Amino acid sequence: MTKVRRPLRIAVLGLGWMGQAHSRSALRIPSLFPERSFEPILTVCADTDPIRRTRAQDDFGFSRVTDDWLSAATADDVDAVWVTAPNMLHLPMIEAATAAGKAVFSEKPIGGKPEQTVQAWRYAEAAGVPTGVGYNYLWSPLVLHAREMIKAGELGTITHYRGRFLSMYGSDPMGLLTWRFIIDEAGYGVTSDILSHSVSMAQFLVGDIDEVVGMRHTTITHRPLPSGAASHYGRGRPEDPVGPVENEDFASMLCRFTDGATGTFEVSRTVVGPESQNAFEIYGTKGALAWNLERMNELQFYRAGGSKEDGYTTVFGGDRFPYHGAFVPGQANSIGFEDLVAIEDLAFMECVAQGDRFSPGFAEAVDVVSVQQALIDSWQSRTWERVRDLKRA
Ligand SMILES: NC(=O)c1ccc[n+]([C@@H]2O[C@H](COP(=O)([O-])OP(=O)(O)OC[C@H]3O[C@@H](n4cnc5c(N)ncnc54)[C@H](O)[C@@H]3O)[C@@H](O)[C@H]2O)c1
Repeated sequence: MTKVRRPLRIAVLGLGWMGQAHSRSALRIPSLFPERSFEPILTVCADTDPIRRTRAQDDFGFSRVTDDWLSAATADDVDAVWVTAPNMLHLPMIEAATAAGKAVFSEKPIGGKPEQTVQAWRYAEAAGVPTGVGYNYLWSPLVLHAREMIKAGELGTITHYRGRFLSMYGSDPMGLLTWRFIIDEAGYGVTSDILSHSVSMAQFLVGDIDEVVGMRHTTITHRPLPSGAASHYGRGRPEDPVGPVENEDFASMLCRFTDGATGTFEVSRTVVGPESQNAFEIYGTKGALAWNLERMNELQFYRAGGSKEDGYTTVFGGDRFPYHGAFVPGQANSIGFEDLVAIEDLAFMECVAQGDRFSPGFAEAVDVVSVQQALIDSWQSRTWERVRDLKRA
């Protein structure tokens, strides 16, 4: 007998990298997760680029397309809106979609500056709509398992957390000056773009952060100007006109967690070597865990036992860990980046369909930018800054 499922009519605002990833989730979820209680329907896609609008209709099967995101975000035949446009469009899109009563899933960082994330959270609270934020790496089956291990006390008391997101996406000086490098389009640089992933991971695994001190640096100060819609992986030519990079390429941070652990964070988009090293190492009194996106199907575990053979062991991903078996059965058969996006989209849509609260939502995003704000303050004061909960500010 065919299961009755709640239709979830979707608007996607911006069909770039992440708009396509979430749209593909909507197409794949029915075959991956037959137990779901909803039916995703790609109703409308808004993009200012005509080529992407054509792709939305021809390759993804959206019922209609538009260059006017406002009409898509507020359409009567839309239940949930995915905000996947450049950062500075997040807040107006969220304001319109929440006021129209839509559930909203926004890509991180939700706006480009902490105050914009806080405002987005306020809009959603006032409207009482479900929210989600794209901290997709939290949904890695091995990260979910690591969290369970920590909760079960397998590491003992956590003493130190080391988080980093070292990426090469901006390491080529010929890399284009896309929106990510411009304050009015991206907001802050790596602290909005990728420190948001590292801090959300630390808060998810270890808990709240109380105080921070840090520094920033811009390594490549000018880049070739793009012509038309361009990816930050695109390259210019030496003869192209250039413009200034307006936000930080690198940031680092020392911190103290509420429960007493110390932490260090490093994020960069211009290093050469680590290609997408979104990684953590967690040290406790009884053991340690390490995970790195570059080897996302492996979790390193050290159990202090006092034997001569003490050492890290490698736990491979497999269908005994959450969600993994939906994609591929058995052990050590790998899953990938877009599978994490499909998992978060499944979990979000399930909450919307069931009327449950989803986490991480906009409230958790404010927890992340509360840490980011303290870091920004420390750039100015050049000293330690306490993390204030910006939901109470
Ligand atoms: N969670 C992750 O791992 C992850 C990875 C990449 C990007 N992101 C986030 O996703 C968001 C989008 O990044 P991206 O890399 O997909 O960007 P992108 O540049 O690839 O795509 C942005 C899209 O928005 C469209 N657009 C621009 N202005 C628009 C407007 N006024 N109306 C409608 N569409 C418009 C562009 O034409 C483009 O298709 C950002 O906030 C980014 O931080 C998250």
